[in-house]
Amino acid sequence: MTKVAVAYHSGYGHTARQAQAVFEGAQSVPGVEAKLLSVDAMDDAFWGDLADADAIIFGAPTYMGSVSAKFKEFMDASSKAWFAMGSPGWKDKLAAGFTNSASQSGDKLGTLNGMMVFANQHGMIWVSLGLPPGNNSSKGSLDDLNRLGSFSGAMAQSNADQGADTMRDSDLKTAAHLGRRVAETAQQFGA
Ligand SMILES: Cc1cc2nc3c(=O)[nH]c(=O)nc-3n(C[C@H](O)[C@H](O)[C@H](O)COP(=O)(O)O)c2cc1C
Repeated sequence: MTKVAVAYHSGYGHTARQAQAVFEGAQSVPGVEAKLLSVDAMDDAFWGDLADADAIIFGAPTYMGSVSAKFKEFMDASSKAWFAMGSPGWKDKLAAGFTNSASQSGDKLGTLNGMMVFANQHGMIWVSLGLPPGNNSSKGSLDDLNRLGSFSGAMAQSNADQGADTMRDSDLKTAAHLGRRVAETAQQFGA
C-alpha cells in the first residue's frame, strides 16, 4: 500500500476544502491509502501517520505572503523528525504543496517556496504540479485546470467575502490533480 498524507491548516475552511480535494485525488489512485491530517492535532497519532507516509503533501492558506502561523508552528515542531533525518525522519519521502488565498496572486508563491525549502531541509523530494498554465490566452477561461498558472504546487483563490462552498471547481480539480500526481509518483518510486 502506498501511503500519502495531506498535512494542512485552514483558518476559515477554504484551504480545508482544497485539502479534501487533494486527499480525494490521492485516494483515487488504486493501491493508495491517503490520510487527511489537520495540523490542529499534532498529537502522537498525527506524527505517527507522517512518519509512516511515503509522501506528505503540505497545505496552508497564504497569510501575509507566507504560510499561516499555525502551519509554521507545525513546521517548527517537525524539528524532532528533522533531528532523526535518515533514521528514519522524513528523508527521501516525496513532498508537494498547495495554498489558497483571496487575491489572484496574493504572493501565494511565497507560501509554496517556504514549503519547498522546508521539505528540502528534511531531505525530501519535491514534486511539482506538472500541469500547463491555464487561462493565459484568448481561448483561456477561469474554468481551466491550473487557471492561476502555478508550477511549483497547486494554487486556489477564494473571494475574501465568500465561504468555502463558493470555491472554483477548476481550483479543486487542480488540487485533486496534485494529489493523484504525488500518489502516482510515489508508486513510480516503488512505494
Ligand atoms: C491574517 C491573514 C492574512 C492574509 N494574507 C493574505 C495574503 O497575503 N494574500 C492573500 O491573497 N490573501 C490573504 N489573506 C486572505 C486569505 O488567504 C483567504 O481568506 C483564504 O481563503 C483563507 O483561507 P482559510 O479559509 O483556509 O483560512 C489573509 C487572511 C488573513 C486572515
